[in-house]
Amino acid sequence: SVMREVTGINEMEQLLQRKLGINRVIIVAGDSDHSPWVKKELGLATANCMKSLLKGNNIIAVNGGTTMSSVAEALTPSIADGELLFVPARGGIGEDVKNQANTICSMMADHTASKHRVLYAPDEVSEEMYKSISTDPRISEVLKLIRSANLLVHGIGEALTMANRRNTSKSDLEKIKNAEAVGEAFGYYFNEDGEVVHKVQTIGLRLEDLSTVPNIIAVAGGASKSKAIRAYLKEAPTSTILITDEGAAKKLI
Ligand code: F6P
Repeated sequence: SVMREVTGINEMEQLLQRKLGINRVIIVAGDSDHSPWVKKELGLATANCMKSLLKGNNIIAVNGGTTMSSVAEALTPSIADGELLFVPARGGIGEDVKNQANTICSMMADHTASKHRVLYAPDEVSEEMYKSISTDPRISEVLKLIRSANLLVHGIGEALTMANRRNTSKSDLEKIKNAEAVGEAFGYYFNEDGEVVHKVQTIGLRLEDLSTVPNIIAVAGGASKSKAIRAYLKEAPTSTILITDEGAAKKLI
């Protein structure tokens, strides 16, 4: 639009694509750290982007958080071109119910008049428990759906903010701090070089599965998330579409 040209947002998007080494960046005006309505704009921009990608029937994996909750609010039945099935990308990772992927999935299904599945899994699991619950038929069915998703939509968080928001044990919190983690996405904590320094042991999508998901949208805004966004995108597939705001974008350029 004319507005985007005048404010230089289009140019900023191009610049950021080159800087981050990903194919597509979409920037909305404002900074969601300071203006709550900017998160709504992130939600709307994500809904539009999803609509442009969704042809025919789709399995959509999503994760939790307040940004994903605004995405859910912005969805309407018009985004779908066929049947949609929403699945949570990962089991519980210590979030409040309203921020959990299961809750977001059910909201998304309600808003688009489609279906969703629930992943009944505890927050953190031991290696043994991981093996046994993965073979439970109800869980393994959802795990199969997650791994066959053709679209993944997820948030990115600042590492310590996320570690504090979750029921992170004292020893894990120390580990995250000592490793100088700056970013987090679906249970993986990253340092500035994009290396995984800690992961929440739960079931669902693994980092190595990302390369087989045809479409990935990462949604994160606010100047406070700039380091987190940069770190995570070092690891993420270059096909990732980043939807962010001016607040984060200015710090990233
Ligand atoms: O815990 C789920 C999650 O998607 C995290 O992976 C991510 O860091 C965080 O939520 C983002 O939350 P918010 O959108 O509230 O900043």
